[in-house]
Amino acid sequence: MNDKLKIACLASGGGTNLQALIDNIESGRLDVRIVAVISNVPGAGALARAQKHRLPCFVVNNKEYASRQLFDRELAAIIDRQEAQLICLCGFMRIFSPFFIDHYPGRIINIHPALLPAYGGKGFYGHKVHEAVLASGEKVSGCTVHFVDQEVDHGPIILQRSVPVLPEDTVDTLADRVLKEEHLAYSQAIGMIARGELEIGLNKNTPLKARP
Ligand code: GAR
Repeated sequence: MNDKLKIACLASGGGTNLQALIDNIESGRLDVRIVAVISNVPGAGALARAQKHRLPCFVVNNKEYASRQLFDRELAAIIDRQEAQLICLCGFMRIFSPFFIDHYPGRIINIHPALLPAYGGKGFYGHKVHEAVLASGEKVSGCTVHFVDQEVDHGPIILQRSVPVLPEDTVDTLADRVLKEEHLAYSQAIGMIARGELEIGLNKNTPLKARP
């Protein structure tokens, strides 16, 4: 049990991506251990899901911190105390300070509800992404799992899954179709990292401790 990859999940919302990870871990399809679920939103659905599965839960309310960096330092303190090796953003709606990104080189991943580099960057989050995809008349959308770097929605892509955009789609129907693929994609990508299959980011040669 102790040699499993330890992950921290950061979530701001309902937490269906977190739930998919929990379900895949519990059914043995994903061989990692969640050592922290952290939300910036007190009462977020993701926290209730984590509590139900007796996972260590933490609230770091960004409204209580004078700066982005102070908020990020508190996140890092929890992540390091819990000895997480990989940080998985599961609908975490905060942009990090350079401090946080530098503290975890190649150790932060995100899932985004579009086929990056299209429909990414500041302002493209949650349903706004699907609104933009529909407004542009795209025939295909999907989701992307990628490493997080200093630019929003920009780091190296690990994998993508696509879905058709149908003529009768609304934001909700498209979001649901993409979300189903997200639930598969995130476990797939985390599994690849846990097995040391990637050449970049966290792999067999990466020391397990984050930088001091
Ligand atoms: C997901 O669609 C995720 O891709 C998106 O937020 C949703 C969270 O859903 N993330 C972003 O837009 C980040 N830019 P969930 O809380 O049900 O997992």
